[in-house]
Amino acid sequence: MKKQSPVSRSGRFGSGPAADAAQFTESISFDWRLWEHDILGSLAHAAMLHKIGLLSKTELTSIQNTLGAIAKEISAANFHWDPALEDVHMNIEAELTRRAPAGAKLHTGRSRNDQVALDLRMWLRDEIVSLNREIRALQFSLVNLGSKYSHVIIPGYTHVQRAQPVYFAHHLLAYTEMLERDHDRFSDCFWRTNICPLGSGAIAGSTLPLDREFVAKLLGFVDTKGNPRVTQNSMDAVSDRDFVVEFCSSAALLAVHLSRLAEDVVLWSSSEFSFIKISDAYTTGSSLMPQKKNPDVAELVRGKSGRVIGNLMAMLTLLKGLPMTYNRDLQEDKERLFDTANTVQSSVRLTAAMLDNTTVNELTCNAAARDAALLATDLADYLVRKGMPFRQAHHVVGAVVGAAEREGRTLDQLDVTTLKKIDAHFDKDVSDIFDLKKAMSRREMTGAPGTRQVAKQLARWQKILRAS
Ligand code: ARG
Repeated sequence: MKKQSPVSRSGRFGSGPAADAAQFTESISFDWRLWEHDILGSLAHAAMLHKIGLLSKTELTSIQNTLGAIAKEISAANFHWDPALEDVHMNIEAELTRRAPAGAKLHTGRSRNDQVALDLRMWLRDEIVSLNREIRALQFSLVNLGSKYSHVIIPGYTHVQRAQPVYFAHHLLAYTEMLERDHDRFSDCFWRTNICPLGSGAIAGSTLPLDREFVAKLLGFVDTKGNPRVTQNSMDAVSDRDFVVEFCSSAALLAVHLSRLAEDVVLWSSSEFSFIKISDAYTTGSSLMPQKKNPDVAELVRGKSGRVIGNLMAMLTLLKGLPMTYNRDLQEDKERLFDTANTVQSSVRLTAAMLDNTTVNELTCNAAARDAALLATDLADYLVRKGMPFRQAHHVVGAVVGAAEREGRTLDQLDVTTLKKIDAHFDKDVSDIFDLKKAMSRREMTGAPGTRQVAKQLARWQKILRAS
């Protein structure tokens, strides 16, 4: 038997939509993935209709059982989605009503406008929880890799020029911090998503005595004390997609962070740097050049940030200029949101997996870190400790660098006599400056890459990640 659309076109319309119009306006091809939340929302709404006396116990039970059976079929991929029924809401309701006549009462006091807002908020809540879990796992991978190579020092860079020595772990912990801010932003976004719009109807609520708070509680739209959280303006509730924009925006920033990390990985794995080696499982070869091993996973993480940023722009553009309240334009939110969530989830997961399968070339790192020029600033600090103003010290060390260059030596190869000739403040103890181990133990304020500081930060993060 053909399913009847629960939206009775026959009451008002002379005919069904033209085939091309139906194809253009359908959303079942992508919004089917809201099915579980749609059913949960319907179950809560039905329970509420029973509570306020609009559904008998028998009707409620029949709706509950039938929706349960439909849910099982959908999850077993045994459900036929019919594009003629437009979207996930109508597909499920039509099938429910076909099997259980009481289903015709389910849409009492409800519109697809508040229904879709509900489904989307519920779907996104779950998505945020699982994304934040993935972010934690990536932080764990960063901290793990840092701990494994906690003794490895590399040059820190500004302008992609060697600047000052840092522990490899310190560099990785920079990303751990960025990801923590991402995690916070998503948690924040969760709270603005976690407000129940059901009961707003199409635009203006309902004349029926719906118990919105009851539904909100059933669906977990509660504050930390367990009090229900419901939207406060029906017009806002059906047209608000701020929570989608917020998610897309936080995701865009997360994608940018991942892209920067990916770029470091690409650089580090190049022959020129050769700081790390990504295992074969997370690299690909070239179809032409047999020697190639390409960091494609990192490159695609970097590349995919483009579409996440694009999705944010699409969402903002979609909303800009939309008159109140619900407009069908809003259907365009889903593919952008789904794509954003998919892309950041997989990018976070794959970045973690890639790092778990990465080894550090300690020899190349150590050789690069031993570049004495990295300690030129330490040499200036040495003069400062001898009482020289920093500006002057900077100038003197500049002259030392020039002298070393002219003599074809590295900074640490200049003897004290040569240094003394440049400035009388230099003394025998200057050789200490170029002892990298000592140099690393001298940078010990909070946030600096000193030996004890980095160990402390690694321990701090291990504790945080273990607890979460
Ligand atoms: N598929 C629609 C969407 O995603 C559901 C809401 C439809 N509402 C309406 N008045 N046509 O936005």
